[in-house]
Amino acid sequence: MRRVSIFSFFLAALLLVASGMVTAKDTAHKYVGAKKCKTCHKANFKSWSETGHAKAYDLLSDDEKKKPECTKCHITGTTAKGVLLEGVQCEACHGPGSAYKSPKIMSKKKWKADPKKHEQMAIDAGLILPTEETCVRCHTKEGNANFKEFKFEERKLKVHPKEDGAKK
Ligand code: HEC
Ligand code: HEC
Ligand code: HEC
Ligand code: HEC
Repeated sequence: MRRVSIFSFFLAALLLVASGMVTAKDTAHKYVGAKKCKTCHKANFKSWSETGHAKAYDLLSDDEKKKPECTKCHITGTTAKGVLLEGVQCEACHGPGSAYKSPKIMSKKKWKADPKKHEQMAIDAGLILPTEETCVRCHTKEGNANFKEFKFEERKLKVHPKEDGAKK
C-alpha cells in the first residue's frame, strides 16, 4: 500500500514537471502569422494560400466561429498582440515561429554555410518538421464530423503543391 502511494506521488510529481515543461515551451514561442514567413518564403506562402488550409476559417458560420469545439482545428492561434490567426497557417504545422524565424537562425547565407547546424538551431527554437503526428491532431474522427480518410504520404504532397515550383 505504502509503496503504491509513494509510486503515485512520484508519478504525479513527474506529470506536474512534464506539464510545466510543455507550458513553459508554449509560452516561450509565440505565433507570428503567415505574413511574417512570407517575407522569406514567398513561393511556399503563395501555394499554401491557394489550399483549403488557408481558408479553413471561412468554412465556419459566424455562430461556429464563436465555438472552441469548431475553431480548435480551423484556426492557428493568436499572436502575442492577440491577433487571431485564421485558418491552418504555417505555424499550425511548423510550430510557433517567434524564435526560429530569427535571421540569426533562418538566414540564407548562414544556413547554406552549415545546414545541419542551422536546422538543429531552428528545431531547438521550436521549428517542427511535420510528421503524421502533426496532422492527426486535426485529421481525426474525434469532434470532426467531416473526417475523411487520412493517408499522410498522399496528403502531404498537397500541403505545398509542387506544380508551381513551391520548393522555397
Ligand atoms: C490545425 C488543424 C489542421 C492541421 C494541423 C492539419 N490540417 Fe489538413 N486540414 C484541416 C482542415 C480544417 C481542412 C479542411 C479545409 C477545407 O476543406 O477547405 C484540411 C484539409 C486538408 C487537405 C485538403 C486541402 C484542400 O486544399 O482541400 C489536405 C491535403 C490536408 N489537410 C493535409 C494535411 C497534412 C498533410 C497535414 C500535416 C502535415 C495537415 N493537413 C495538418 C486542418 C488541419
Ligand atoms: C479535430 C479537428 C476538427 C474539429 C474539432 C472540427 N473540424 Fe471541421 N474539419 C476538420 C478537418 C481535418 C477537415 C477536413 C476533412 C478532410 O479533408 O479530411 C474539416 C472540414 C470541415 C468542413 C468542410 C467539409 C467539406 O466537406 O468540405 C466544414 C464545413 C467544417 N469542417 C466545419 C466544422 C464545424 C462546424 C465544426 C464544429 C462543430 C468543426 N468543423 C470542428 C477538422 C476539425
Ligand atoms: C498543413 C501543414 C503545413 C502547413 C500549413 C505549412 N506547411 Fe510547410 N511543410 C509541411 C510539410 C509536411 C513539409 C515537408 C514536405 C515534404 O516532406 O515533402 C513542409 C515543408 C516546408 C518547407 C521545407 C521544404 C520546402 O518545401 O521548401 C518550408 C520552407 C515550409 N514548409 C514553409 C512553410 C510556410 C512558409 C508555410 C506557410 C505559408 C507552410 N510551410 C505551411 C507542412 C505544412
Ligand atoms: C528572415 C527570413 C526568414 C523568415 C522570416 C522565415 N524563414 Fe524559414 N527559412 C529561411 C531560410 C533562409 C531557410 C533555409 C532554407 C532555405 O534557404 O530555404 C529557412 C528554412 C525553413 C524551413 C525548412 C527547414 C529545413 O530543415 O529544411 C521551414 C520549414 C521554415 N523555414 C519555415 C518557416 C516558417 C513557418 C516561418 C514563419 C513562422 C519562417 N520559416 C520564417 C528564412 C526565413
